[in-house]
Formats: sequence, structure tokens, C-alpha cells
Amino acid sequence: MRDVHYIIEQSIKSDILRLTTAGSVDDGKSTLIGRLLYDSKNIFDDHLQAVNEDSSKWGRDYVDYALLTDGLKAEREQGITIDVAYRYFSTPKRRFIIADTPGHEEYTRNMVTGASTADLAIILIDACKGLVTQSKRHSFVSSLLGIPHIVIAVNKMDLVDYSEYRYNQIREEYLDFASKLEIDDITFIPLSALKGDNIVHSSVHMPWYEGPSLMSFLENVYTGAGRNLVDFRFPVQMVNRPHLNFRGFAGRIASGTVKKGDGIKVLPSGQSSHVKSIVTMDGELTEAFMGMSVTITLEDEIDISRGDMIVHSHNLPHVDNKLEVILVWMGDEPSDKNKTYLIKHSSHYEKALITCLNYRVNPDNLHREDVEFLQLNEIGRVCLELFNPIPFDEYSRNRSTGGLILIDPDTNITIGAGMIINRSLTYGKNIYKHTGVIGHSERCLLLNNQPLTYWLTGLSGSGKSTIAFALEKEFYQKQKPVYVLDGDNVRHGLNKDLGFSIDDRHENIRRIAEVARLFNDAGITVIASFISPFEEDRIKARAIIGPRRFCEIFVDTPLEICIQRDPKGLYKKAIDGKIKDFTGIKSSFEAPAHPQITIDTTKTSIKEAVDIIQNYEIGID
Ligand code: ADX
Repeated sequence: MRDVHYIIEQSIKSDILRLTTAGSVDDGKSTLIGRLLYDSKNIFDDHLQAVNEDSSKWGRDYVDYALLTDGLKAEREQGITIDVAYRYFSTPKRRFIIADTPGHEEYTRNMVTGASTADLAIILIDACKGLVTQSKRHSFVSSLLGIPHIVIAVNKMDLVDYSEYRYNQIREEYLDFASKLEIDDITFIPLSALKGDNIVHSSVHMPWYEGPSLMSFLENVYTGAGRNLVDFRFPVQMVNRPHLNFRGFAGRIASGTVKKGDGIKVLPSGQSSHVKSIVTMDGELTEAFMGMSVTITLEDEIDISRGDMIVHSHNLPHVDNKLEVILVWMGDEPSDKNKTYLIKHSSHYEKALITCLNYRVNPDNLHREDVEFLQLNEIGRVCLELFNPIPFDEYSRNRSTGGLILIDPDTNITIGAGMIINRSLTYGKNIYKHTGVIGHSERCLLLNNQPLTYWLTGLSGSGKSTIAFALEKEFYQKQKPVYVLDGDNVRHGLNKDLGFSIDDRHENIRRIAEVARLFNDAGITVIASFISPFEEDRIKARAIIGPRRFCEIFVDTPLEICIQRDPKGLYKKAIDGKIKDFTGIKSSFEAPAHPQITIDTTKTSIKEAVDIIQNYEIGID
């Protein structure tokens, strides 16, 4: 068994600084990267030879370091950077990965791609030109992406006679702009990438600058700042079952730490267990943390599939299907509210609609603008509605479970990068949520109740309503505030506009879940009795009501028995073809995969069923 020393060793080994670079055309970004590679002796001789040759081919009378980094052919031929390229280099102190991203305005998308996991961004500003729209855009995107450290590299100082005055002018102007952004740590370094000033060694030309050289800063900057070691989030990438006695869940720990024996929950199903073992290529561990790829086995046999998330039971992410997101649009086609997109979140894919566009941000002055759609490289705040709820955190808290990408399902191309602000609080333009002064706990205290929603699902005639009303009576006698929401009853009023098509059933359950949530918020226990034949709808209902308040009860009565009972004579009518889409006859019923309680009404009396449900306890907020 490996111990903590092994983990520390691993962490030292993996002390990699991920950095991204951004600047506008001709700011000298490629030269800077080339310089870093060259001065840290990371260029292979044959590569250098090629650069020498290229330099003369391009008519340069000096070795053009920019040609070193121009890995892509088109880039070399056009003299511009057009895609993200990753470079690796190391010094005795640290290893580095640089995402070299392009400087053109239209290539914001590449910057997002390259910067999303970065610890640090170097934003180049040309000392001659000063702060331009591009520099602001890059800073804005870096702050949106939550990059913990920003280095403003004021380049080409040699062309402004190494002027301290000019440097300070740029610094002041930048700080004025950055005060409107959320950037934790900004460092300014005056340098000349071409001449090598303040790149690796302190420049003799700028004695007035007392800070570190760029390389020295990169080697020493603390990289822990952007890492979340608190919230354990483990998106399952693969279920590993080499033989019958082993069932492990493989993935990379997105954040937090996990120990053997920890109590966990699997989302979205909400099932609980404990960590039995943490297995790696190098053997078993007692503890593992963010960034490590491990296989986790659990004490209990739980059905888990790719895309599920394992978390600590005492530290849960949000689960919702409505999200408010800052979206960077990277598609050539503008955003479209009528189109179904695909989102990728951790290892999970989900269909989604952009239901509203609150505003677009102008990166130059950070003003909010009213628009109907987002176009290439534009950034806006939108509401997304996912077809199924996902577990997530706010991006500001957790970059991996708070980030998502939007994919066009027709082309499979990534067309957006999103940072989740929260579950959606604005449901459309100009609609906001108001909060009163009376909290949920006060209401519970007033009514002396910890409300849950008992959700009974099963075929028509399975006995749901009978159990529901018996349970209601029992709660009432114990002076619990309780109310039954019953399929037939609700369809007389609130849902009288709905029939039994698949869409109408979705809407039926959605409305009931919203009503149950309101009742629960008010402190009242709900017993919901609905066929609710689709697993997808019940999962959504769980997300709306809150996983900890939702108790799913499968009233499991075989179809033949329901047909025999036929209390309302509806099965007969359906079999005779007089009712279309009747559940069990012409429309399907999906049995719940993970109900908290299953009642087999052929073996259990109503009284027993009521006792079982009453004795059931689940975690309450
Ligand atoms: S659900 O499928 O949308 O959840 P719900 O529970 O609200 O159904 O309503 C079911 C009740 O409506 C049944 O108990 C039955 O009395 C009545 N009903 C009428 N037509 C149908 C139908 N086509 N399928 C199922 N139930 C129907």
C-alpha cells in the first residue's frame, strides 16, 4: 500500500506550470516563446539548423526565434499563428507546457482552447503600440477562464529606448482597465524578446526595473492557487471489469482528494457507498488527489456508468438542468435558440438548448449589449436548458466541473466554451428571482416538519393512489403537514390542457415536480402519485425537487395484475383500441433503475407499504 510520501513525490514530479500566451499580430509572441525554448536549451540541434536555414530563406539577417515555434506549416508560410500548438520545455526547477495561441481577433476560440487549463497567461503588449483592443480581449478571456496568474509582458522595450516612463504609462492604463475584471494576480515585466532583455537574465538596459526576469518568475510562481483540493469530484470515464470479482471505476480526479473508506454518492442516481480501494498502475493507495488517474472500487454493488460522477456524500455539487453560463462563441454560424446543441461536461454528453441570451459583453469597454445571437468570438451570458440534469459546480469554485463545451451535433465541431455561473436564476430576459426574508428552515420550524417528496411511480391500477392516500392519513394523524398530488386529480385542473402524448407526459411531470418543490419549500410534505413512465422525467423531477428531498417509490405491480384489477375499466378500453397511448398497452413504462423503495403489491399489504415508507429516512438538507 502506498502512503502519503508517494503522493507527495508524485506531486513534486508533476509540478508542471501550464501557461498560455496571447498577443496581437507582431507583438513578438512567437519570438518570446522561441527565446524561452532557446535560452532554456530546449531546442534540438537539427531543429535549430532548420531555423537557421529558414531565417535566411525569409531574408532575416539574424536567427528568427519565431520560426522555432511556428510548428504548423501554414503558420510558417504565412508568417502568422493560426492554431493552438503545445510546447514542452523544462529547466532544472520546473517543467512547462506552453499553449501558443494566435493573436488575431477572430481566433479567440483558440485562445480559449489553449487557456482553459492554464495556471498562468502571458499577455504581450507591444511597448510602441500600447494597450490595444486585443490586449483587453485577451485579459477579459483570461479572467473569464479564471487563470490564476497573469503576466503582462511589455515587449519591444528596445524600440522605446527602454523607457521607464513608457512602461509605467502602459502599466497604469492596464491597471485601470483590469480593475473592472476579476484577476487575482497581475505581474508586469518589461522585456525585449528579440534582444533577450529580462527573459532569462535581468536586463542591463533597465536598471530601474527591480522585479524578476520572466523565466525566474515562471520558475517560482506558486501553482497551487488554481487547484481545488476541497471538493472531491470524480467523473467516471470507464467501468473496469476485468473479472467477476473486480468492478472498478476509472477516471481522473477532477478536483479534491479521496481516501479509502470515504462515504460517497454517485450522481445523478444519488446512491451511496464507501470507497473500498483506490487502485493505480503502481499499486493501491490510501489517498489520491486532483489530477491523478485512478480506479476506485466501492463497498457496494452499484450500477455506475461512464459519465456519472462520484463525489463525497457530505460535499455535493449542484444538480440541475438549467444553467446560467458565460459563453464564448466559437462557431462560424451564429448561435440559434431553436437548435439543439450537445454539451460536453466532464466525461458526460447531454443535449441542450440556449433558452435565452441575457447580453453580450463588449470586450473593449466591458459594456453589456442587447443582442439576439452570438457570433464568432463574441462573449455573452446565456441560459442553457439541458435535457437531463447534470452535477456541476460554479466555474469560479471549480474549473473542471464548472466548465463545459458546446458542440454542434451536425458537424461534431466545438462551437462554444462555457463557464457556469450558477443554476439559472434568470429564466428569460428581464425576469429575476426575488428572495424573501423567511428562510426554508424558519418555515420548517413553524410547521414542525422536514418535508420530503415521496414520488410513487407505477402502472395505472398498480395501487399508487391507494397507498398515497393511506400514507397521507398516517402523516396527518401524526400532525405532519402533507398533501397528495395525484395524476387523475391534477389533470382536472392545473394540467387539464395535457393529454398522454410523450411530450405532454414530460410536461405533466415537470409541472408536478415544480409544484412539489414549492410545497416542500413551504414546509409541506408531498406524496406524488403519477404513472411517470419515463426514467428521464423522474431524474428531472429529482433534480428540480432536490436529490436529498426526493424519495422514489416504485409501486411494482405486474401488468397482468393491473389488467385483472382494472379499477377504472381503462385497460379494457385500451385493449379494445378505445384509448390510444395507454401505458402498458400502447405506451411503454420504464421501471426505475434505482428506486429508494420498491413495493411489490402482490406480496405487501397497504398497511405494510405505509409502514415501510414511513420508516424510510433519507438525508435532509
Ligand atoms: S403520466 O403518464 O402522465 O404520469 P398520470 O399519472 O398523470 O400519467 O395520469 C394517469 C391516469 O390518467 C391513469 O391512472 C388513468 O386513470 C388516466 N389515463 C387516461 N388515459 C390514459 C393513458 N392513455 N395512459 C395512462 N393513463 C391514462
